[in-house]
Amino acid sequence: MTHAEDHEGTRRDFLYYATAGAGAVTAGAAVWPLVNQMNPSADVRALSTIRVDVSGVDTGTQLTVKWLGKPVFIRRRTEAEIEEGRSVEMSQLVDSVARNANIDSGAQATDQNRTLDEAGEWLVMMGVCTHLGCVPIGNAGEFTAGGVGGWFCPCHGSHYDTAGRIRKGPAPQNLPVPAAEFVEETTILLG
Ligand code: FES
Repeated sequence: MTHAEDHEGTRRDFLYYATAGAGAVTAGAAVWPLVNQMNPSADVRALSTIRVDVSGVDTGTQLTVKWLGKPVFIRRRTEAEIEEGRSVEMSQLVDSVARNANIDSGAQATDQNRTLDEAGEWLVMMGVCTHLGCVPIGNAGEFTAGGVGGWFCPCHGSHYDTAGRIRKGPAPQNLPVPAAEFVEETTILLG
């Protein structure tokens, strides 16, 4: 990857992040003064779940939200990305463990075991490289479908496929899928 492409990817991710900040996350600013007066464990509990409005996320894009101090990628996958993810054999994977907190996290890392919905359109995962913790760039992995999808970590060159599974580079594990569920048609609850 050239430096210019690298820059482009970073800027694109930043734009999603900036757009997302405008009102997609409804953790509740009004809750803050109250929890600040409470004990630390209650504070942590109150902030450990957030609701994310995903109605503005178009197919082939992702929203990055900050949760518990870390970025979480919420991607709406294209048909090509879903097909690509589902065509991968377990034997091709570096890490064959699902790492999905919503199911037995030790289950196999099939595409279906990593996505939020049965159709495989929504993929929610921590945006933290499992090597040394950089934030991977979206739409940039080598293991992509139709030129989109996948993630690339520029720090030391780790490639993740369209299901966020590590395929190449020094990162040892798939990007973890946190506890998440749809609580309304376009609202995802994290935590
Ligand atoms: S931190 Fe991602 S490859 Fe090293």
